[in-house]
Amino acid sequence: MNIYRGNIVYSKSPNELVELKRGYVVVKDGIIFGVYAILPHRYANFKVTDFGEDVIIPAFSDLHVHAPQYPNRGIAMDLLLNDWLHTYTFPLEAKYKDPKFAKEVYYPFVRDLVKNGTLHACIYGTIHNDATNVLMQALERKGICSFVGKVNMDKDSPDYLIEETNESIEETEKFIKKNSKNIFAKPLLTPRFAPTCSFDLLKKLGKLSAKYDIGVQTHIVESKWEAEEAKKCFEGCRCDMQIYKDAGLLDHAPFIAAHYIYPCQEDLDLLKECNGVAVQCPDSTLNVIAGIMSTGKLLDMGIRVGFGSDLSAGSYIGIYTQIASSVRLSKLKNLYEPDNRQITFAEAFYIATKGGGSLWEKVGSLEQGYFFDALVLHGLQDKFTNLSPKELVERFCYLGTSKNIAHIYLRGKEL
Ligand code: GUN
Ligand code: FE
Repeated sequence: MNIYRGNIVYSKSPNELVELKRGYVVVKDGIIFGVYAILPHRYANFKVTDFGEDVIIPAFSDLHVHAPQYPNRGIAMDLLLNDWLHTYTFPLEAKYKDPKFAKEVYYPFVRDLVKNGTLHACIYGTIHNDATNVLMQALERKGICSFVGKVNMDKDSPDYLIEETNESIEETEKFIKKNSKNIFAKPLLTPRFAPTCSFDLLKKLGKLSAKYDIGVQTHIVESKWEAEEAKKCFEGCRCDMQIYKDAGLLDHAPFIAAHYIYPCQEDLDLLKECNGVAVQCPDSTLNVIAGIMSTGKLLDMGIRVGFGSDLSAGSYIGIYTQIASSVRLSKLKNLYEPDNRQITFAEAFYIATKGGGSLWEKVGSLEQGYFFDALVLHGLQDKFTNLSPKELVERFCYLGTSKNIAHIYLRGKEL
């Protein structure tokens, strides 16, 4: 039994942010037994680890991040999606043909992910099997709950980063088989996005989805250009989600729709029907995409929402920075589209923790029965204001860095 004392903040639902001043979390075998304002008498003789004014919160989930793009953070941010892909992103991804290069990047990437409080993630690799297996290994060793994809792209891609359709499918099947026994890092189908995938490729991926009961991550209606391009590429196509439905790619969970900025009614209906997750990547959409997700509307429709850092279209690896960005963006969206409501800090915190965490079993909250995947935030109080626990967390999301994360617990074990 481990008992921790400190300020405590976690979400029960989008509108229910719980805060306890100097409360207790009781953890047994890595699982939360209870959260209490006053420690129950039966625990009176147990040792308590006291974090003082520091804040205990659940760890974050990043539902859309490109690990291979880690070296490109914070550059070429004046370009838009298609130019950015062709001048900076594709040339970098081509380097992962060499698994040694993958090793140099992927281990520091995983270390920095964890250092910034992300303990659950959906991750793109590249088209290269060996390199993506290196990424799998780095995550599996750390015990990070993750979905990882070897990327598929068989058209409208540069010669140095393209696959032949059948080879792409064979390599994907090898990738699935090799990682089928992993405990933490699970394979996921990862067609890059509609413009770089033939319908033949998507249908064959649909067959793999059925054969291995495996879900999909991709970019959906991510920009006006992409949404139009998708319709042009697929004959008779009404919308992005319809392509995946027709290919049999919505039948096996999870379905992870990154960006999801310009959905039509049919896109919305199909995502809801397959219980998919819309992933807002706030900074990424500011940098290379120039669009804002209707986050509040999606929550109101009962669609699942998570956040993604989308490195390196997004610059920051810490999902806490995206909580702040998402609130800012929703105000801007509301300014230009008054029916598109703002979101609250509580909603954004929910999305980053319990919302995104819903892809895994019992992570993303500090409620009873959840895994103690938690962070302890330090150094946020000041002598002028005496902030409440919730305010300390909000300040962390706006001003904090990894230096404010003093302790990290993964299934009850300190990392
Ligand atoms: N669409 C297709 N590929 C990418 C990518 O690497 N990043 C982003 N943000 N969008 C994409
Ligand atoms: Fe992306």
